[in-house]
Amino acid sequence: MKKDPINNHIQLNDSGQLIHLLGLEGLSKEHLLEILDKADKLIDKDGNLKKSKALDDMSVANLFFEPSTRTRNTFEIAAMRSSANVINVDLANSALKKNEALMDTMHTLKAMQIDMFVIRHKQSGMPHHVAHHLDGVAILNAGDGTNAHPTQALLDMLSIRQHKPNFENLSVAIVGDVTHSRVAHSNIQALKTLGTTDIRLIAPEGLQHDSARCEAVACFNDINKGLKDCDVIIVLRLQKERMIEADIPNEQEYFDHYGLTTERLALAKKDAIVMHPGPINRGVEIDSSVADGNQSIILQQVTNGIAVRMAVMQILAKNL
Ligand code: NCD
Repeated sequence: MKKDPINNHIQLNDSGQLIHLLGLEGLSKEHLLEILDKADKLIDKDGNLKKSKALDDMSVANLFFEPSTRTRNTFEIAAMRSSANVINVDLANSALKKNEALMDTMHTLKAMQIDMFVIRHKQSGMPHHVAHHLDGVAILNAGDGTNAHPTQALLDMLSIRQHKPNFENLSVAIVGDVTHSRVAHSNIQALKTLGTTDIRLIAPEGLQHDSARCEAVACFNDINKGLKDCDVIIVLRLQKERMIEADIPNEQEYFDHYGLTTERLALAKKDAIVMHPGPINRGVEIDSSVADGNQSIILQQVTNGIAVRMAVMQILAKNL
């Protein structure tokens, strides 16, 4: 496959409307707020998700080339709650195993009158490549390599806003394997667009961010300094599947230096919230007492994932 540059510009039409969701770079504050406000309206006052007919007669295909529990299932639920037909393409048993080229599979699925494709792939830029070469459908990036995970960042922003409505005054700490985290990259972008200026990245030397990609963030090696008086802590998993063997830290040592424990959480503001995109590895990046503690909003993030994904799909359906 010829590699296209990873470029989000094709996600907007000439009128600036969203026609794919590939990444958050290039989207305005208004674009993000439209999605968050729509997601909010899909949750009733008791916290239950509403149903909608917005995707009636439409078909959505989930293509997950990497494992997923939260993202895949919440995309599926979101599509069903918006009245779409959903297929989860069985990639392990598909013609790709008979060496069919990915784009031939995509054209074949499009011929089945699929309107939207949700794609997760280990290669950064794969959803962008598909969007470039397949007309008349909407592509949603459900995580591409280490590049971006836009719906995760949007559900994180919705979750933050439910507790702390003013992004401009926030101190947000992102702790862990920043290097390999598409979630961190999209979250930094979302926070910056929404006006947060105090963004702290806490990681050991080998897992820190690439300064060429993310400007205007503060980097810390010392977790005790980085957590001081922050409002939001986003914990990341050690993404070993993306590391070479020699770089994988010893889990106990990692927990000793960077694990979020009750003692470390006490360095943040009293009402700080703890987030994690999941899957969590207890005793590696987070202690159970924190993951299950009353400052954790980890499961609320999961529920918000449905509302945000419904909102994005409904906006794309309108612009298709
Ligand atoms: C994240 C991902 O896949 O990027 N998980 C998720 O989508 N909820 C983070 C991770 O795998 O650690």
